Amino acid sequence: MENNDRGKFGSKLGAILAAAGSAVGLGNVWRFPYETGNNGGAAFILIYLGCVLALGLPIMIAEFVIGRRTHTNIVGAFEKLAPGTQWKWVGRIGVISAFFILSFYSVIAGWTLEYMFEAISNGFSGKTPGEFDAAFTAFSTSPWRPLIWLILFLVATHVIIARGVEKGIESFSKLMMPMLFILITVLAVCSVTLPGAGAGVEFLLKPDFSKVNSQVFLAALGQAFFSLSLGMGTLCTYASYFKKDTNLIRSAVSVGLIDTFVAILAGFIIFPAAFSVGIEPDAGPSLIFITLPNVFQQAFDGLPWLAYIFSVLFYLLLAVAALTSTISLHEVATAYIYEEFKISRKRAALYVTASCCVLGILASLSLGVGRDILIFGMSFFDLLDFVTAKLFLPLGGALIAIFVGWYLNKRITRNELTNEGTLKVNSYKAIIFILRYVAPTAIMVIFINELLIA
Ligand code: PFF
Repeated sequence: MENNDRGKFGSKLGAILAAAGSAVGLGNVWRFPYETGNNGGAAFILIYLGCVLALGLPIMIAEFVIGRRTHTNIVGAFEKLAPGTQWKWVGRIGVISAFFILSFYSVIAGWTLEYMFEAISNGFSGKTPGEFDAAFTAFSTSPWRPLIWLILFLVATHVIIARGVEKGIESFSKLMMPMLFILITVLAVCSVTLPGAGAGVEFLLKPDFSKVNSQVFLAALGQAFFSLSLGMGTLCTYASYFKKDTNLIRSAVSVGLIDTFVAILAGFIIFPAAFSVGIEPDAGPSLIFITLPNVFQQAFDGLPWLAYIFSVLFYLLLAVAALTSTISLHEVATAYIYEEFKISRKRAALYVTASCCVLGILASLSLGVGRDILIFGMSFFDLLDFVTAKLFLPLGGALIAIFVGWYLNKRITRNELTNEGTLKVNSYKAIIFILRYVAPTAIMVIFINELLIA
């Protein structure tokens, strides 16, 4: 069953860090704070944590089972486990999601590069909050600058993907993940000590349930799937490179913990800072690009060299965190194309990069010169985000849960979770119960409530 040319992650830690590298990215530092801001703060975070624990982790384990069992791309995996059935459509929708997310995600990843170079050239120094706001608007609506960064980012992703699994993905993740942790922890401490930061901490910790409605549930569910890279076969694809002795449950718990920890810390960086400089928490996708430069200026007031080092390092690491996520998105589509259509890995990667450049350019322009063109009331950028995070990922997650919970032979699942009987697993029954009943029901209820009734 194994195809030995595909490559594998060299070590267990490397495998966990690569999966965590996929999970940790702009979803944590950019999307989580603005979704939290748009959906009322602490109550959203509580629902989000519930989604991660009760739905995200079991579905991540299910993806690991499918991936490591089949050692192939997401469409091939369903074809192997359920030959001749329509289950492969779950994989196909996953591949479409990969194209869509990679396209709009790279736009924001490109913005981080602009900010990194701005930091390197000391461009933040001495600016007021109002000036940061104006600078962001001028940049994000400029017709060509964001496009150059977008294309550069996609080319960087392409180069790593073309190099292969261990050399490209694993070694990269191992180096940058620990650095990112240290830096965001220091920044969170700086942010909560800014003058007037208390209101931001309160926003994060004091739930106001009067703001909770079905929309908040769907937003939290979508954010959990997006942040954990779930529901579209990314973690299946990565698990197809896991070794036989990787402990799937422990790996899933580690990835979930790391991802959640980074998201919460990002909240503690952004909101205290936003309240401190008087920026509304529901500023949307621009939130981190307007608040963060202020944090650097004010937190290290009087120590300009420290402000300089921190801002350069932060945007560098954010760009790298985004890169480890774009790599995983690209890998889903590339692995599918080269394995299923029997063409070379390099050529497959080229097709993916080229199509995402086109979609990404459209997404980027839809935030600037084309912002008056709306589809279903949304810009093309927002449409790609909505269709993936709020439709395809939760739907894919529910179907993956049903597949492993009901369709897949239980012997296969047990063998994978216990590494052919060599590990003792106490949570097996609970995982299967959630996959069979809880996850599909919860996702469908949230879906129907928001999309059909609301
Ligand atoms: N989880 C990534 C993040 O939080 O930035 C984004 C992402 C990567 C979503 C891979 C989906 C995916 F398959």
